[in-house]
Amino acid sequence: CGIVGYIGTEDAKEILLKGLEKLEYRGYDSAGIAVRNNEGVHVFKEKGRIEDLRQIVDKHVHATAGIGHTRWATHGIPSKENAHPHQSASGRFTLVHNGVIENYTLLQKEYLADVALKSDTDTEIIVQLVEKFANEGLNTAEAFRKTLTLLKGSYALALLDEQDPDTIYVAKNKSPLLVGVGDTFNVIASDAMAMLQVTDQFVELMDKEMVIVTAAKVTIQNLAGETIARDPYTAEIDASDIEKGTYPFYMLKEIDEQPLVTRKIIQAYQDINGELTIDSDITKAVSEADRLYIIACGTSYHSGLVGKQLLEHIAKVPVEVHVASEFVYNMPLLSKNPLFIFISQSGETADSRAVLVKVKELGYKTLTVTNVAGSTLSREADYTLLLHAGPEIAVASTKAYTAQIAVLAILADVTAKVNGIERNFDLVHELGIVANAMEVLCDSKEEFEKMASEYLSDTRNCFFIGRALDYYVCLEGALKLKEISYIQAEGFAGGELKHGTIALIEEGTPVVALATQNDVNWNIRGNAKEVLARGANVCTISMKGLETEEDRFVIPEVNELLTPLISVVPLQLLAYYAALHRGCDVDKPRNLAKSVTVE
Ligand code: G6P
Repeated sequence: CGIVGYIGTEDAKEILLKGLEKLEYRGYDSAGIAVRNNEGVHVFKEKGRIEDLRQIVDKHVHATAGIGHTRWATHGIPSKENAHPHQSASGRFTLVHNGVIENYTLLQKEYLADVALKSDTDTEIIVQLVEKFANEGLNTAEAFRKTLTLLKGSYALALLDEQDPDTIYVAKNKSPLLVGVGDTFNVIASDAMAMLQVTDQFVELMDKEMVIVTAAKVTIQNLAGETIARDPYTAEIDASDIEKGTYPFYMLKEIDEQPLVTRKIIQAYQDINGELTIDSDITKAVSEADRLYIIACGTSYHSGLVGKQLLEHIAKVPVEVHVASEFVYNMPLLSKNPLFIFISQSGETADSRAVLVKVKELGYKTLTVTNVAGSTLSREADYTLLLHAGPEIAVASTKAYTAQIAVLAILADVTAKVNGIERNFDLVHELGIVANAMEVLCDSKEEFEKMASEYLSDTRNCFFIGRALDYYVCLEGALKLKEISYIQAEGFAGGELKHGTIALIEEGTPVVALATQNDVNWNIRGNAKEVLARGANVCTISMKGLETEEDRFVIPEVNELLTPLISVVPLQLLAYYAALHRGCDVDKPRNLAKSVTVE
């Protein structure tokens, strides 16, 4: 979910709605705003997208303070009732919340047994508690603070009090939240992108802080009520980076940006002599570790699998890769001296953060590889490597995946160099070849559009098979297809399909086979034959130098270790066109959110 708030001199409605549009990547199943003027608080909320909310906001209500929310349902189905803002029984307090309150049923039983609740959300408990404590005689700040001390879980909160038109009360624990500062106004937002429309000056909030925001002043306090001084920083995001331009969808724009991003990464990690370089504290931490533990979710997990191969092959360090949500509660036996590497486009994913918090408590060193400077995972880890991919807006990740792999390749290469491990290629040169190859693929869109209609137009399911590095790319290819086209898809190690799943192959079942790995080229071709013999509609994508006549597409040749950077591009485009042909909302697939800030 995402939240925004504005208090100042302008009409708040439009600023809030525009802000929420920029936060839709965090969830988009329902949305709402509440604005405060002399007549009181007006709440508008609706199931669906911000554009649906826009339709029901009363244009005649003029107000210079308000809060807003876009939701990704956790507790309670997506509906108007469960949409935020939520109000207390008397309507005096109005609240938006991002996060999950773990002890909300306990709190309800203990404090609110006699209050009739209007929704199924954990959020309503918070606003009802504030009212209860206010009714008992506390002022709003005290009632809010007392409520915060009772909450277990994650929250970013913004609260309006009908009796106090000049203040927004704000609090944060685990969920991201920033306060934006202006001359005649102040704002709040889950992400700076939402409020770049009015300011680029932001103040970071830390966990368990409460903030009293008026048009003129931002007062940060800890839960003991002590005031904390903190200066704003300048958010360095180019507002034009977050526009779609002439592209029909952000996803296509972001796929096309991959060659440029690869070149930017090379530049960002080059020293004045053109040599790749990484902060020596980081290469030292990698070199001193006896094992690296890569922790990530979704697409970032898939880039981690490729990263493991790169770090093991090039830097000769053993690596394990784990899904964050499993690792946190089901930790394996750790090596003596581990380094934890968190891969996260957003730097906000709650599952990954839960691991970070845990391993920090255990005293281990941590490195975050992220696209967002200043994000929670970046701030809280010992070290950060940035992706330099520019904002990624489409929910399905594309350029962040390739950027993650490129940065991990650089980390592996520089660590190897520092440790005197011989490398048989010049990574700057090889990444340059990759960027050119990506360009060739991005210029072949028509071909991939044709392939998508040929293989995927009316299929129920699809398999992706590959061996070695191709296998990991297949996992990502299948995820892309599932996410945006809703075709059931699975990525498989080529040799493993026959041990069970081959039972699903029927006449016409599409199977995409990747063949970019020299050592296993003939094996994967054998696996493709096995499914062909059982009626599959096989689409082989191979690499120049390894091709055969029956291949459907041949990608340009790049260094074998770097093939995932380019073999993924056809799979991204196949998913894009399959989704487009099916009339799906490519950038905002159903049920998903780009940044999942709940565990
Ligand atoms: C969400 C998104 C995925 C993404 C994953 C991890 O589930 O829908 O596309 O890969 O989170 O996100 P992160 O920002 O940590 O890379």
